[in-house]
Amino acid sequence: MIRKFTMGRPIITEAVTAEFMSEKIGAFPFKSKTENGCFSFSFAMRKDDIVYGLGEAVRGINKRGWIYESYCSDDPFHTETKSSLYAAHNFIMLGGSSSFGIFIDFPARIRWDIGYSKSDEAEITICGMDFDIYLITADSPREIVREFRAAIGKSYVPPFWAFGFQQSRWSYHNAEAVDRVIDGYNSANIPIDCVYLDIDYMDSYKDFTINESAFPNFKSYVADKQSQGIHLIPIIDAGVKKEDGYEIYEEGKANGYFCKTADGSIFEAGVWPGICAFPDFINPEVRRWFGSKYRYLLDMGIDGFWNDMNEPALFYSAKGIENALDEAAEAKGKNLDLGKFFHLKDVFMGLSNSRDDYSSIWHSVDGESVNHQSVHNIYGASMTKAAGDYFSEAFGEGKILMFSRASYIGAHRTAGIWFGDNHSWWSHILLNLKMLPSANMCGFLYCGADLGGFNENATRDLVLRFLALGVFTPLMRNHSALGTRDQECYSFENTDDFRDIIEVRYRLIPYLYSTFKKASEENELIFRPLSFDYPDDKIARECETQLMLGEECMIAPVYEQNVSGRTVYLPEDMRLVKLSGTRVEQQELEKGLHYIEVALNEIPLFIKKSKKIPLCQPALRTRDLDKDSLEYI
Ligand code: GLC
Repeated sequence: MIRKFTMGRPIITEAVTAEFMSEKIGAFPFKSKTENGCFSFSFAMRKDDIVYGLGEAVRGINKRGWIYESYCSDDPFHTETKSSLYAAHNFIMLGGSSSFGIFIDFPARIRWDIGYSKSDEAEITICGMDFDIYLITADSPREIVREFRAAIGKSYVPPFWAFGFQQSRWSYHNAEAVDRVIDGYNSANIPIDCVYLDIDYMDSYKDFTINESAFPNFKSYVADKQSQGIHLIPIIDAGVKKEDGYEIYEEGKANGYFCKTADGSIFEAGVWPGICAFPDFINPEVRRWFGSKYRYLLDMGIDGFWNDMNEPALFYSAKGIENALDEAAEAKGKNLDLGKFFHLKDVFMGLSNSRDDYSSIWHSVDGESVNHQSVHNIYGASMTKAAGDYFSEAFGEGKILMFSRASYIGAHRTAGIWFGDNHSWWSHILLNLKMLPSANMCGFLYCGADLGGFNENATRDLVLRFLALGVFTPLMRNHSALGTRDQECYSFENTDDFRDIIEVRYRLIPYLYSTFKKASEENELIFRPLSFDYPDDKIARECETQLMLGEECMIAPVYEQNVSGRTVYLPEDMRLVKLSGTRVEQQELEKGLHYIEVALNEIPLFIKKSKKIPLCQPALRTRDLDKDSLEYI
C-alpha cells in the first residue's frame, strides 16, 4: 500500500507516474517537527534492522551508521566519509521487525541521519516546506521495491548492443586514436561493441559540434565504424560555451533559455570551454529545444550518448575568482598564521561547485522565478529527460543509448546512469558492487561503474577483477581519466586473460538481457542483497560482498589484490560454475562457507538448485551472437 502526504506546494518533479490521493502532512504517522524552515521526522531502528536505499551513495548496502545528504555533487573522491555523490535518490526502506519504504519527492537538500547521531534512530530532515512523502508498506523489502517501482514507472531499456563491451577514455583525441582502439581489440580477438568520444571530439568543447580536423568527414567515419559493428558514443555536457556566433549559445540567448542571475542577466560559470551558460532544463520549452539539438549527431549516424557535468558542475564563477584573488592580494607578503593560511586555502579549494554560486542561479518554473537551490537535484535529471523525451518521440522507446552522471528518481524511465569518477582502487570494486542493488531499488537498472577505475593508474590485475564484476553489470564500460596509464585490455601483457573474461560476458548476454527486460517489465531488481532472499539467515543478512542476480544465481567477485580466491557464503546448496572463455567448470557446493579459488581469467557464478541459465557462443560483436543456439547450465 502507498500513502502520499503533502506539505505546502511541492515542485512537480514527475518522479511518480501513478496517481495517489494526497493526505495532509499531519496524518504522517512518524514523530516529526518543523524547525528553521525544515521538516524532520524520525523512526526507531531495532538492533538488527537494515536500512536500504539511497541509490548511488557511498558506504554499504545497509546505510546505517552515517549521515547522507541528497545534493547532486561533482565529487571525484568517493571516499567513505563523503555524504553525497552525483545523484539524489530519495528512497529508503527499513527491513527487519517491520518493513516500510519512504520516498521523498523534493528536489532540494535532504539530510539522512541514519543512526549517526543516535544509533537506534533515523532522523530525516527535508530542507524546505513544500514536498510529497510517499509511505510504502508491504510484507517484505522486495515487495516494497515492487510497489514503489510500479508507482514511479518502468525502467529504461537500452538497445541490445548496449550490453556489449564498451571502451572509453578521456580522450581518444582523433579518428586515428579511435581506430587504434578498435584495431587493438580486433588483433587481440577481444569482443567490443562501443568506443566513446570524450570532450575532445568537440570543437572547443562546444556541445553539438565536431572538431573537423580531428574527425574529418565524421558522418562517413561513423558509418564506417557502424559497418564494423562499432557504435561511437559521444559525450554531451550541461554547460554551453559562451561564444558569439555559436548557434546553441545564440539561440539560447535570444530565446531566454539560459539560467539567470537575480538581476536577470545570464548566469555564467567556467567549465571545460571556459565561461558557459546553462540551459534552464527545468523549463519544458528549454528541454524540447535542447533535446532536439541531439539531432545534429543523430543525423550523422550516432545512436548513443552520455550526459555529463549536469549536477551541474561549475569549476568557478568570475565572482568567486575575483573574491579569491582579492583575498590572495590581501595576504600577499603577510605572515599567515594557521587560521589565515587555511582560510586562504579553503577560499581557493572552494571555487568549484560553490554553494554560493548555486544560490545565485535562477530558473523559470511556470513563469515564476525559482532559486536553483530549490530544484538543484532535478537539474541533471531534467537534462537527461530533454534528451530521452526527444529520442522516444523521434525513434520510439529504447532505440538510443542514454545514460547520465547526475540523476533523480524519474530519470530511470528515460536513461541509465554510470557511477561517476571512481578510482583505480580495490575498495571501489566493492563500493560499486554495493551501489548496484541500491540503484536498482530506485529504478536505475542500466548502470555500471568505470571498470578499472577512472582516476589514477590501474594495474593489470585490478582491471581484470573489475571487469569480472562488470561482466554482470548492464553497462560494461572500461573508462579512465586524462593522464592515467593506458587501461584498454590490449594495453596489458597476456591479453588472452582479458579475452577470457569478456567472452564470458558475450556468452551471458542473452541471459543478462532477458533478466534485464524482465526486471524492467515486472519492477524487479536485477541485483538483490542476499538479505532479501534469506531474511532469517544472519550471515546472509549481513553479507555485502555478494549479490543475488535474477532468480537463478549469486555473484561473488574477487575484490582484493594478490589473492588467488575468496571466501563465499552459500545460503543454500548451489552449483559453482567457473567460466573462462568457452571453458565451463562445475562443482556442487553445500550451504555454508567455502574458500574458492578464482584465477584472474575466471568468473565464478553460483547457480541455485533447479535453476538453469543459458549460454551462447561468444562473438566479437553483439550483432553476431547466435541467440538461437543456446546451451544450458
Ligand atoms: C567528468 C566525467 C568523466 C569524463 C570527464 C571529461 O569527469 O565524469 O567521465 O571523462 O569529465 O569529460
